[in-house]
Amino acid sequence: MKEWATRGSLKEVQGIPLLESIVTHWKRVETFRAFPEDLLIATYPKAGTTWIQEIVDLILNRGDAGRARRAPTHVRMPFLEMTTPNPTLSGITHLEQMEPPRVIKTHLPIQLIPNTFWEARCKVIYVARNPKDNVVSYFHFDQMNLVQPEPGPWSQYLDKFMRGQLGWGSWYDHVQGFWREKEKKQILYLFYEDIKENPEREIHRIADFVGQQVSEEICSNIAQMTTFAAMRENPMANYSCIPDTIFNRQASEFLRKGEVGDWQNHFSPEENATFGEHYSKMMADCSIPFRFLI
Ligand code: A3P
Repeated sequence: MKEWATRGSLKEVQGIPLLESIVTHWKRVETFRAFPEDLLIATYPKAGTTWIQEIVDLILNRGDAGRARRAPTHVRMPFLEMTTPNPTLSGITHLEQMEPPRVIKTHLPIQLIPNTFWEARCKVIYVARNPKDNVVSYFHFDQMNLVQPEPGPWSQYLDKFMRGQLGWGSWYDHVQGFWREKEKKQILYLFYEDIKENPEREIHRIADFVGQQVSEEICSNIAQMTTFAAMRENPMANYSCIPDTIFNRQASEFLRKGEVGDWQNHFSPEENATFGEHYSKMMADCSIPFRFLI
């Protein structure tokens, strides 16, 4: 008999809903120490985190595929706030065993990023994805990730997303929080749609930001190694190491579709109209050039 993981529930830190296990061990996040050489990859869940992690790791390893396959994504670039019922397996436990420079993943909104990252003047790469594709991806993920709260039906899920009630809170506050700070702090703000449209251009931007020179040849190799199809086949980048009792692959794959515009297969015309109105209101004070199609 398979022992399925138990779905978590959400609690709050400063009004932001997070998995209860994260909230229980929050002190460890607050007291975490960053070093100036550390690089933080920050995203709202399902914005393309794993994709950018793979690109960054390959850039830092000058396109060496063997090096990038040394361990699964979450071991190479641990997930700062993630804890399991056994805290020795948490992201911070991995991080504490690593020497800087470390590449660190987080989904925390900017106000919850531990101050140590700003004090150390760490570089931050932020990736944002248009909210319609983002919520569709999150919906499928919450169906397959049995540690996440039960997603329920799509229409209610969309409503929760719009109200900021899903894990890691409001998408609007998240993307705007980093957007507003990007000039004051060392934040490279990227869009999923831009990477999809022209990966080589974005790889060069990232390489410049992290201070690495990549030749055209290496850049093109990195783009090849990080296509959706290539990553789906790469056991060190596709989360196949996570057991089926946690990731129920009958519900969805982690690398599910990897497209821009899949929202059109999920939003009804009414949902699209309501969402559009809500989006205009929520983004009125902070216009960010999101593209819903490319
Ligand atoms: P879909 O569910 O739309 O397929 P995260 O890593 O933040 O959890 O985001 C996961 C989303 O990014 C999934 O979206 C996944 O398929 C997509 N993704 C991962 N690697 C990708 C790649 N190489 N190219 C395009 N999309 C990718």
